[in-house]
Amino acid sequence: MCGIVGYIGKQEAANVLLGGLKRLEYRGYDSAGIAVLNGSLSVVKQKGNVASLGEAIKQSDGMVSDATIGIGHTRWATHGDPSDRNAHPHLNAQGDIALIHNGIIENHAALRVELANHGYSFSSDTDSEVLVHLIDHLWESIPFLDFEGAVRQALTVVEGAYGICVISGREPDKVIVARKGSPLVIGIGENEFFIASDAAPLVEYTRKVVYLSDGEMAVVHRDGYKVKTIDNVVQEKALTELDFELEEIEKGGFEHFMLKEIFEQPDVMEDVMRGRVRIEDARVQLGGIADQLEQLRKAQRIIICACGTSWHAGLIGEYLIEEFANIPVEVDYASEFRYRKPIIGPGDVMLVISQSGETADTLAALRLAKEKGATVIGICNVVGSTIARETHCGMYTHAGPEIGVASTKAFTAQVIVLTMLALALSKERTMSDAEVMQALYCLDTLPERVKNILECRDQIVDIAEHYKDARNFLYLGRGYNFPVALEGALKLKEISYIHAEGYPAAEMKHGPIALIDEEMPVVVIAPKDTTYKKVLSNIEEVRTRKGRVIAIATEGDEEIKALADHVIYVPAGAPFIMPLLTVIPLQMLSYYIATLRGCDVDRPRNLAKSVTVE
Ligand code: M6R
Repeated sequence: MCGIVGYIGKQEAANVLLGGLKRLEYRGYDSAGIAVLNGSLSVVKQKGNVASLGEAIKQSDGMVSDATIGIGHTRWATHGDPSDRNAHPHLNAQGDIALIHNGIIENHAALRVELANHGYSFSSDTDSEVLVHLIDHLWESIPFLDFEGAVRQALTVVEGAYGICVISGREPDKVIVARKGSPLVIGIGENEFFIASDAAPLVEYTRKVVYLSDGEMAVVHRDGYKVKTIDNVVQEKALTELDFELEEIEKGGFEHFMLKEIFEQPDVMEDVMRGRVRIEDARVQLGGIADQLEQLRKAQRIIICACGTSWHAGLIGEYLIEEFANIPVEVDYASEFRYRKPIIGPGDVMLVISQSGETADTLAALRLAKEKGATVIGICNVVGSTIARETHCGMYTHAGPEIGVASTKAFTAQVIVLTMLALALSKERTMSDAEVMQALYCLDTLPERVKNILECRDQIVDIAEHYKDARNFLYLGRGYNFPVALEGALKLKEISYIHAEGYPAAEMKHGPIALIDEEMPVVVIAPKDTTYKKVLSNIEEVRTRKGRVIAIATEGDEEIKALADHVIYVPAGAPFIMPLLTVIPLQMLSYYIATLRGCDVDRPRNLAKSVTVE
């Protein structure tokens, strides 16, 4: 989603802003711009990437150098096409107020008409530009209003979601920021302050940050900041210490963040389980939900809500919790849950899963569940994110910053957390100590097994070469591996732009089989489990129709070789552990197909890392 950076201090603002925008590139964008204040406002903005914005800034005859206050933005088009004129920052007519905005102003059309009646004209098609003129109009028309007051008034008029950063030549030594539904964080330096839509641009300057909550605004000066609610009530905000290192958001020798993140998974898996998996006493220690564990064990049902890849993790969670804890689970798309009339209330438990912790639909589902009296538990990766803060309790995935838009390590971390949760819920309810111990041992050996799978890189590159020009792919799996089929298909389509569908293998004959011909690669996840023989029959059906089969199978399975065109082996394991193994070759296959097709895997077209709008 769009990215925001802001700076006030003693450094050259343009440099800080450009560096920050570079770190936000992973969120996805199609235009970028900055505004700096040095007596008057200078704006450089254009369609295209941050590198070309940097070139444009160099050509701007030093207009922006020396300025020590400014704001910068990467825009992901929602209202108005990606173009120079729609890029942020937006200015008022006199050119002395500059604004950047993430989110959507829902009543922009009505406001546009109203402002036009007051003589305002617009130079972009965006909803955001309306807000800068509204601030100007209120500042001009309400006596004794200052900059802060004008922004506050404007925010009481707009409907929708926003994270904004505003500067003005009329009151030059401040940056005003506000949020509702779109994250903002202030980094605290020595007489300098950094503002950003996530912590990635801040970590090279400071570890101390303040997260704004919804409905809050802050006025940031060179020597301090004050946070208030939009209704003007002063807020005491706690400082949060950032817990990741700069190198974690750099590529570390890999060609892409996605590849780095795929290969990080053995380490991530250890981090997720560290201190939590206690084999010796057959126990899982989940500090974040310790106080609610008993209540959870008594839950009549658990509703899991999430989007995209996190939803796929949720589907695996359903299998895990039902198998280990014997608690009924429903898994819902957050976007559907929020607009149904969901039956949920006190005594129900909702589990929300989100890598970013900022996904608008997931956040709305959690708020609705809370409103109706349910207990809401979060599984998030980003520490201090909105979802992490608004849930009653939760567990972090500890996967470290995930920069690639296609989620990989966050997914496996989510599935491990769900496995630990299912085991924690099972204790004394459905499983013996010996069984729990056995399952924990299995989890503990996971990182080593994943390392083995990562070694088949060359084989996967080879397979990718074979199928890089395919137009469609089908992914099939059963049981624990059905959600992996969905995830494999999603990964391929989002980064390679090849159409792909995931299906429960047995559903193939109810429709998708009609698609199969010699042009159709079918990825079949076929580990040796209770449905193995049935999945082999599905492979036969694909072969009969001349489809090409790429099988993900258990090491030592010779039988499948005779049926499949390609076999990628994963180590043997209990069924519940298999998704964490079988997904790895699928992530790699998508990555290599996409790179062979020349796609920008870290920043796929039309996609954003964190979807903070509906
Ligand atoms: O941050 P979240 O986990 O809430 O994000 C949910 C989806 O937007 C996300 O998983 C998306 O599907 C990814 N691009 C998948 O790779």
